[in-house]
Amino acid sequence: MLGNFTYSNPTKLYFGEKALDNLSSELKNYGKNVLFCYGGGSIKKNGIYDKVVDILKECGKVIIEDGGVMPNPTSEKLLDGCKKAREGKADFILAVGGGSVCDYAKAVSVSVHCKEDPWDKYYLRMEDVDNEIIPVGCVLTMVGTGSEMNGGSVITNHEQKLKIGHVFGDNVFPKFSILNPTFTYTLPKYQMVAGFYDIMSHILEQYFSGDDDNTSDYIMESLLKSLIHSSKIAIENPTDYEARSNIMWIATWALNTLVACGKSTDWMVHMLGQSVGAYTDATHGMTLAAVSIPYYKFIMPYGLAKFKRYAVNVWNVSPEGKTDEEIALEGLSRMESWMKGIGLVMNIKDLGVTEDMIDGIAKGSFIMDGGYKVLNHDEIVDILKESMGE
Ligand code: NZQ
Ligand code: ZN
Repeated sequence: MLGNFTYSNPTKLYFGEKALDNLSSELKNYGKNVLFCYGGGSIKKNGIYDKVVDILKECGKVIIEDGGVMPNPTSEKLLDGCKKAREGKADFILAVGGGSVCDYAKAVSVSVHCKEDPWDKYYLRMEDVDNEIIPVGCVLTMVGTGSEMNGGSVITNHEQKLKIGHVFGDNVFPKFSILNPTFTYTLPKYQMVAGFYDIMSHILEQYFSGDDDNTSDYIMESLLKSLIHSSKIAIENPTDYEARSNIMWIATWALNTLVACGKSTDWMVHMLGQSVGAYTDATHGMTLAAVSIPYYKFIMPYGLAKFKRYAVNVWNVSPEGKTDEEIALEGLSRMESWMKGIGLVMNIKDLGVTEDMIDGIAKGSFIMDGGYKVLNHDEIVDILKESMGE
């Protein structure tokens, strides 16, 4: 049965090879001073920086440069961005980059006029925004997080060894996002496949919750099949437009709140992965990949019917002559082979986790209650130990 929900998504999307042509008309809706956020320099190498700067200048904008947004943006960088935005009296924030830059832009947008430490208010205390918000627009260059069409904003505090996501309301969603699949062609394979798994994980963590006949589950099975199909093509030929554009669109659908409607949603893989990230600063999608199979094997008995359905409908496992458990396990085994085949990191040791970190990572993993099993601390420790690999 579908639960009660409200659905609203205010982000306007421009998709395709000519999507950037729409930036100037969008910019006209906002004030003169633009905080221009970007990452460590990929956009300067691939030419996107120059294209965006030209458009900003043509529109007569004053550019407040805010580069150097790191993957897994930090609470320190957030304060730095707020300072720049305040000094430059930013009217608008333009994020050009991956999920990290988009998330950071949203964090700055709600924090510039915040009277308290934004880390404490939004991330530790999870409070709502009650101050002025600076509008954000995104030009996406890395596919996976769905940040281009949601209110999510994940910030890492290295001192406190915590990586926390706040899901802000629709007043913080990007006002518009520009999605040109060709902008993702220059991604290194490691980042590209990490993004593929981030997408898969977003879908699975919504799919593996609730057991009823829910339309969202049918949509998610189709998104997964399309992702598995297109990922093979994109790995063989990273400039295959059809595959890269399908994947870009699947990523947006996977986390633009639509498929979550009416579902309780799990999110434990993200809680484990984020805590691994807080200790290692590893690439987000890889942290998810490295804990997933041990996690799913652990919860499988509590949601056996769904894992069986997943095996049959997504991984084409033939159910004949097999027990439900055998079918479900075969599905997970096919998923594991696909993960290894595309080059994902399959254990947390390879991401830099050492035995002495396990207890802290477990404590830093927030326990969610929407999946098939509410984990306790010892169970999280066991899953993390299992994720250490051989
Ligand atoms: O910094 P630059 O030089 O731009 O390089 C980036 C970065 O090193 C590079 N890159 C991006 N576009 C490129 C490119 N390199 C070459 N060509 C391009 N076109 O890729 C690297 C990774 O970028 P990043 O933005 O960190 O990746 P991603 O999009 O995976 O974002 C990860 C962050 O998003 C959060 C994660 O926790 C993590 O902090 N998430 C946000 C979510 C949300 N808003 O809903 C949900 C997700 O589950 C996730 O938690
Ligand atoms: Zn994710």
